[in-house]
Amino acid sequence: MAQVNESYGKLLAGYLFPEIGRRVQVFQESNPDAAIIRLGIGDVTLPLAPAVVDAMRAAVDEMATSEGFHGYGPDRGYDFLLDAIREHDYLARGVEIDSEEIFLSDGSKQDSGNIQEIFGVDCRIAVSDPVYPVYVDTNVMAGRTGDADDAGRYAGILYLPATEENGFVPDPPEERVDLVYLCSPNNPTGSVMSRESLERWVAWARQCDAVLIFDAAYDAFITDPELPRSIYQIEGSRECAIEMRSFSKRAGFTGVRCAYTVVPRELTGSTSSGERISLHSLWARRQSTKFNCVPYVVQRAAAAVFSPEGAKQTGEQVAYYMENARQIREGLRDSGFTVFAGIHAPYIWMRTPEGLSSWDFFDRLLSEAHVVGTPGSGFGPSGEGYFRISAFNSHENVDEALRRIAEVFGR
Ligand code: MLT
Repeated sequence: MAQVNESYGKLLAGYLFPEIGRRVQVFQESNPDAAIIRLGIGDVTLPLAPAVVDAMRAAVDEMATSEGFHGYGPDRGYDFLLDAIREHDYLARGVEIDSEEIFLSDGSKQDSGNIQEIFGVDCRIAVSDPVYPVYVDTNVMAGRTGDADDAGRYAGILYLPATEENGFVPDPPEERVDLVYLCSPNNPTGSVMSRESLERWVAWARQCDAVLIFDAAYDAFITDPELPRSIYQIEGSRECAIEMRSFSKRAGFTGVRCAYTVVPRELTGSTSSGERISLHSLWARRQSTKFNCVPYVVQRAAAAVFSPEGAKQTGEQVAYYMENARQIREGLRDSGFTVFAGIHAPYIWMRTPEGLSSWDFFDRLLSEAHVVGTPGSGFGPSGEGYFRISAFNSHENVDEALRRIAEVFGR
């Protein structure tokens, strides 16, 4: 008899976004004429930038010739893309990363879910609360937690509340943990970590020999050039941090799939007997065993994001979404809501109206305004009473959504 992984039984509910999709589908089926506007999942809506499409087409044409055909590629990615990442995402910001420390992948969701495999099952993890659910759920699946309590907190995980009081950026904990997931700009709260905050985290991690897993999937949305875009802009981080970045939101690749993770050579973990082991070699071993990297055509498309035209066109797309974020922030404020963020992130975090839970507000917004958002409690217990609105949609849909919200909920 094949025994199942019983840790899956501890998971509290289905994954958040399919659950939202299910509720929206049920509503649409009984209200076929409702023109629903989706500001829930953070999925891009603009078409791929022309420079990206041209590069992808050229790569497809190459693949159709015997000389230009590519089969299995190098494990970590082709040099043309790794070198472009090294130059534009790091060197241009004064950060030295070796191309061999960069591992391409088909998404930061996958990387942030898979990375826990190279750590021992007894590692204690900490997450901010609310948090991107993948960090928590994958650790539950791996057996690194006990059951969840009534509030939805899994035993064994340290939850660091991200609240209005701390600007939704928790400080390092007093107690010992081995692995901490940080996300900045943050999904879901849209908050961003300052240099000082990142420095505190790096100093703490080095002092207590912890590893920071830094998710920078939304770095392109940072509008203040003084704010760090990479954890490696902080001194000492190479000895304590893994970083993940993605082309999904910065260049519209949610359906194309390309991201990467950086694991510096200096970074080590410990065996039970105290021997230090390179995390770079463990991740290299994991990836070469379980993954054949990203298709050649996709890597060519991703490299085009760094060309002068590609950078300009994708920058304009980011600016388009950030204009939506501004409209949403101001529109919701005008309707009497208390709103946060949306300045360095494509997400607006808002308080739900008095007396409505996150899911109550989701249901009312859907049924009365025909607008979809994401309930804050879906990201963790401290998200209760909050709601996330995504800026990924057209200007026209954002205008219309705000008009409807003002009509239903406006003061
Ligand atoms: C979100 O809406 O939180 C994101 O789109 C999820 C993801 O990037 O996987």
